[in-house]
Amino acid sequence: MANKTFKRIGVLTSGGDAPGMNAAVRAVVISAVFKGIEVMGIYEGYKGLIENDMKLLSSRDVSNIINHGGTILFSNRCDKFKTPEGLQIAVENCRKNGIDGIVCIGGDGTFRGATDLSRLGIPCIGIPGTIDNDISATDYTIGYDTAKNTVIEMVDRLRDTCESHDRCNVVEVMGRNAGYIAVECGIATGAIAVAIKEIPFDKEEFIDRMQKLTKLGKRNFIVIASEGMGGDFTENLTKEIQSRTGIESKFARLAHVQRGGCPTCTDRVIATLMGKKAVDLLTEGKYNLVVCYNNGKICDVEMEYAFMLDKIVKGKATEEEIASLAPDVREKMMIDAENIKEHMNSLYEIAHIMAR
Ligand code: F6P
Repeated sequence: MANKTFKRIGVLTSGGDAPGMNAAVRAVVISAVFKGIEVMGIYEGYKGLIENDMKLLSSRDVSNIINHGGTILFSNRCDKFKTPEGLQIAVENCRKNGIDGIVCIGGDGTFRGATDLSRLGIPCIGIPGTIDNDISATDYTIGYDTAKNTVIEMVDRLRDTCESHDRCNVVEVMGRNAGYIAVECGIATGAIAVAIKEIPFDKEEFIDRMQKLTKLGKRNFIVIASEGMGGDFTENLTKEIQSRTGIESKFARLAHVQRGGCPTCTDRVIATLMGKKAVDLLTEGKYNLVVCYNNGKICDVEMEYAFMLDKIVKGKATEEEIASLAPDVREKMMIDAENIKEHMNSLYEIAHIMAR
């Protein structure tokens, strides 16, 4: 697709909001306007596309937003968009509004929507925006850094009071099924243990270590548990620690506090680079791609590749799906998946080696 065919593009944020999304929206608008392309801001993600809730954005409209959490375009998880009828209305509204392509900022659900739109002739580019860092194709997702820093700040406060009172605090962090926030914040806060879905939690070893450290005079204990552990894991673990060690134990669920707040420098910069890259890709006639940040560089990966890699990493790919991949693609995916798992394993191991 030639450059000149892009007269107007859309931008939307969908799924869970993440600090830094505004910086990405800003970068999309400014880069597009710089190239003479109009930008339609679509409100509340795919819901706005279905309800025709959108407006043209100028560079002025995105001034003074880079420092703000949340998303000026608002966000939503839209079930209607997943239906053929909803999708059809969305496509019609794109045509009616002269939208030649869309930059979709969000997580894997957002990319699924973007793929559907691309298939129906609306070129889309995905930008990974989620605090969970759970898009396997990229080392980094917008919002992850800010969320980690929020967690660290909260846990540091909890540690102060734990030390004063000789207590343990089990802190549940977000991440959906991914343990990235938990494991990195575990390292950064010197947690005594980290519990994540990806790796079996050795409770006996941890209780034993806690008891030994108590005898050596340690007075504060922080345990970080990922929400992916499910159910009442955090509450139950807290009770068990107290009953088995005699150390008074509290639990804290940080919940949505992790999703808000002023984005860090890293989130602002990466979001800006990704926003610009998304516009560049569209105008180069490339689409159905996810903008990624790998090995310190902004790059792009095919959305289909990103989906399949995610499935393999999360153990959701069937044997038939894996067998149907071209041999070279399969080989690369297996190596990528192995590297991702190894990275998580090594972070987990370091978190526990340091917890002495
Ligand atoms: O994907 C971001 C996230 O915050 C997850 O960590 C969490 O599981 C989920 O969204 C919470 O969703 P909601 O905002 O709908 O409660």
